[in-house]
Amino acid sequence: MKAALRQQILNAFNFRHACKSFNLEKKISDEEFSFIMEAARLSPSSFGFEPWKFLVIQNSETREELHPLCWGAQGQLPTASHFVVILARRESSMHHASDYILDHMKNISQLPNEVIEMKSGFYKQFQEEHFSLTESPRAMFDWSCKQTYIALGNMMSVAAQIGIDSCPIEGFDREPLEEKMTELNLLKRGEFGVSCMVAFGYRENEPFPKTRHQETDVIEWIE
Ligand SMILES: Cc1cc2nc3c(=O)[nH]c(=O)nc-3n(C[C@H](O)[C@H](O)[C@H](O)COP(=O)(O)O)c2cc1C
Repeated sequence: MKAALRQQILNAFNFRHACKSFNLEKKISDEEFSFIMEAARLSPSSFGFEPWKFLVIQNSETREELHPLCWGAQGQLPTASHFVVILARRESSMHHASDYILDHMKNISQLPNEVIEMKSGFYKQFQEEHFSLTESPRAMFDWSCKQTYIALGNMMSVAAQIGIDSCPIEGFDREPLEEKMTELNLLKRGEFGVSCMVAFGYRENEPFPKTRHQETDVIEWIE
């Protein structure tokens, strides 16, 4: 890869920081926000089953309703140009025998029947034996959540590359938040749960300098 391109990408990774509040005067264009969402949609997922949904919360009353339940988004919820709640699928739709999984293989991936049969077998074994995901609904939900973080990372990385700030958010009380979202008709709790959130916009203040472990502390080569 060309050195200039590598540097440009690294600059974006240094530009990205957990932005606490955004400039209310600056909004992300539709075109740029679609680009960020396309990075989410194209993200990889285990077996390709896309265990997510992205709720783009632009309604200010809805944001106000969620605000008290999101301690980690106190500055971001009221100021973000775009605010996304990332939902993860629960056991009812991620189980190997669920209608969602069958429909995905048939109609989204458009696999032939014999491939569906084979893939179903692998997926069942993976869920039951290799990852013990059928052990509890929580195990299955956490596995879906893990995958949503790949989309989250991709969204923030591509945003940074076009000069857009972001903040990943896990600072919320899941149980009452899901209750509130159900009440607001934003969530079908049997099917989805809240995994994480991400705010986008343009920074209001300059961030603190980045601090990270040294490369040698976190990367070990086995040769
Ligand atoms: C999964 C996850 C959840 C986070 N939740 C919050 C949050 O609720 N509120 C917040 O302000 N920052 C949150 N952060 C931001 C981190 O505190 C921040 O990324 C970290 O301190 C490193 O700083 P930097 O991102 O500015 O480099 C979260 C980060 C991650 C990855």
